[in-house]
Amino acid sequence: MPKKIRLGILGGGGDSLIGILHRVASQINDNYEIVGAVFNPDIKESIAFAKEIDVPTDRIYKDFDTLIEEEMKLPANKRIQVCSILTPNFLHFPMALKLIENGFHVICEKPMTTSLEEAKILQKAHEKAGTVFALTHTYTGYPMVRQMREMIKKGALGKIHKVDAVYYQGWINEIIHDKKKRSTVWRLDPKKAGISSCMGDIGTHAFNMIEYTTGLKIKSLLTDFNYLYKDNKMDVDGTVLIRMGDHVKGVIRSSQVATGEENGLGISIYGEKAAFKWEQENPNFLYMLSDSKPTQIYKPGHAYNSKLSLEGTKLPPGHPEGIFDSMANIYLGVAKAIRGKNYNDGEFPTMTDGVRGMNFVEATVESNKGGNVWVELEK
Ligand SMILES: NC(=O)c1ccc[n+]([C@@H]2O[C@H](COP(=O)([O-])OP(=O)(O)OC[C@H]3O[C@@H](n4cnc5c(N)ncnc54)[C@H](O)[C@@H]3O)[C@@H](O)[C@H]2O)c1
Repeated sequence: MPKKIRLGILGGGGDSLIGILHRVASQINDNYEIVGAVFNPDIKESIAFAKEIDVPTDRIYKDFDTLIEEEMKLPANKRIQVCSILTPNFLHFPMALKLIENGFHVICEKPMTTSLEEAKILQKAHEKAGTVFALTHTYTGYPMVRQMREMIKKGALGKIHKVDAVYYQGWINEIIHDKKKRSTVWRLDPKKAGISSCMGDIGTHAFNMIEYTTGLKIKSLLTDFNYLYKDNKMDVDGTVLIRMGDHVKGVIRSSQVATGEENGLGISIYGEKAAFKWEQENPNFLYMLSDSKPTQIYKPGHAYNSKLSLEGTKLPPGHPEGIFDSMANIYLGVAKAIRGKNYNDGEFPTMTDGVRGMNFVEATVESNKGGNVWVELEK
């Protein structure tokens, strides 16, 4: 058994949503040990939390700059090898840049940055450093999402002509209708979230899901946002028409005010031979539709699945695995990359996906601002 990879955590404190997902996922395949962190901006809270989850407190730092400074003083075989960035969006860029420039590997939450310009700076620094960089589009870790990607690559759907990706949530309803509450949420604050709420937070997952599964690149788009209130600066709902080619089109439907919806990410991909339908809330069922045959259901763990899909399953068929396992599969791929082992490029989203994602978010905002016009994405 190789030594565990020394993991640092930025953000993801006891008060956070996503922290527990990363902590548990990092432990699932026994590859990582959390050795250092800045869980919260308040050192007392960080230390209290470290004690609560039994992480040694000697490398809980008061802030990110101190973490870098102190870790760089340690010998390479003691130093944090990879840091997970789980803070609100505006901190991803400065943290990732400094980590990359100092030779650390990075696991970064999405959206990668708050602008395309920042994303490109990060990309340049990363090219120079040659370290590992993973972007946690969590849902790409699901075995059935990986199965779609592999089967589409092999031509199971034939030529794709229509894609429909949806990501509906309803949680902002409770906040958006109350002016006071609106100002308390970082996802509705452009200084902390970036130029978009809905598209930046969840539309990017739908965008990434399309490019990940189909292998197609979205070339242009037209967006219609809903802000609900005049004084709300951030989109909370948006519909995006997308074009991947002359006769290859689709739609991304994304909302944070879809009343009653929980975490409704789904994708339908229609090709000349067959179609795939998959939903995040029932991730172990992949439906294959055909005009001439009854619908087939693919499930994880069966030998008929691809190697990439099977490697994302730990138990025999019929033992449901979920979001923690999906994120764990991303951490597993990153562990292989850090250890210099072979891995499939579908095992974790990369810097390229991050740049594409920011290009997408900016293009949706530009399209909407310009009066719902078509905007080209960079090639
Ligand atoms: N991959 C996914 O499916 C997914 C899901 C949810 C959130 N996210 C992303 O994860 C990130 C965090 O989201 P969240 O919902 O957990 O946010 P959150 O507000 O619940 O938690 C943010 C955490 O960061 C900490 N923090 C804030 N400033 C800090 C600083 N300067 N130094 C250290 N820690 C600091 C906070 O104390 C808190 O613990 C966001 O970028 C979000 O887009 C991704």
